[in-house]
Amino acid sequence: MKEDFFKKKIKSGIRRGKIGREIIFFDSTSSTNIAALKIGEERADTDGIVVVSDSQTKGRGRLGRRWESPAGVNLYFTILLKPSFSPADAPLLTMAAAVSCASAISDFTGLKAGIKWPNDLIVNGKKAGGILLEMKTGNESIKYVAIGIGINVNMGMDILPDDIRPFSTSLSEKCGREIDRAGLFDKVLSVFEGMYESLLKGERAPLFEQWNRLNVTTGKEISVETGNRVVTGIAEGIDERGGLIVKLPSGGREVVSAGDVTVLKKR
Ligand code: BTN
Repeated sequence: MKEDFFKKKIKSGIRRGKIGREIIFFDSTSSTNIAALKIGEERADTDGIVVVSDSQTKGRGRLGRRWESPAGVNLYFTILLKPSFSPADAPLLTMAAAVSCASAISDFTGLKAGIKWPNDLIVNGKKAGGILLEMKTGNESIKYVAIGIGINVNMGMDILPDDIRPFSTSLSEKCGREIDRAGLFDKVLSVFEGMYESLLKGERAPLFEQWNRLNVTTGKEISVETGNRVVTGIAEGIDERGGLIVKLPSGGREVVSAGDVTVLKKR
């Protein structure tokens, strides 16, 4: 059966590096982030464990939203890490995950994938995936961090609720063919592994260079909803902590650390 094949392929993928040295597979779980956070509490040797599920019953999106997670079509997985840098630098991991996913999607499918700040994976102007980072800290260090990744791979858009369907896509919808989920999963982990190693060595410049190259909003007029406020201006790039730099109509600049970006005009 198709699902057994996916599971077998995910589990048998030869991963000799750190990321994915242990893969924990579920046919269905509430959320791979929830499962990973539990493992983070229970075990000390978490660095590099990856939790994968074929479906999720309580898939979590950013800002408390739900992540649609039907079985048999998409990728839902969480990379557990125990990095040696400070919690304030954790957004670098979201950036590394976004760059890894966008690069892997482009290499694996031939589609041109980009990133919309802070962590949306964009294909042809629509959202094809997202990243949700959750972590536990203690004594100003990271106890563990769970990087949850959802990619709409072979999903038909009819599954999605009306309010998000117009802004969403899947890789197969854009490619016109079915994509090998296990192969794409392996590719994402391989690319991420290289980026994580560079970050651990303190090499940040290549990550910023790649993120800026893949970013679809730079130079565009945007508005960002940041909780209780809307910031409008031109997206200029990101600062050293992953915040979005917005050039305001007044000529000043504001760095936004969380929110939802809407592109107002194509320039
Ligand atoms: C977003 O809102 O864009 C982030 C979506 C993140 C979804 C992934 S699917 C795997 C992992 N488990 C979850 O519950 N959420 C993340």
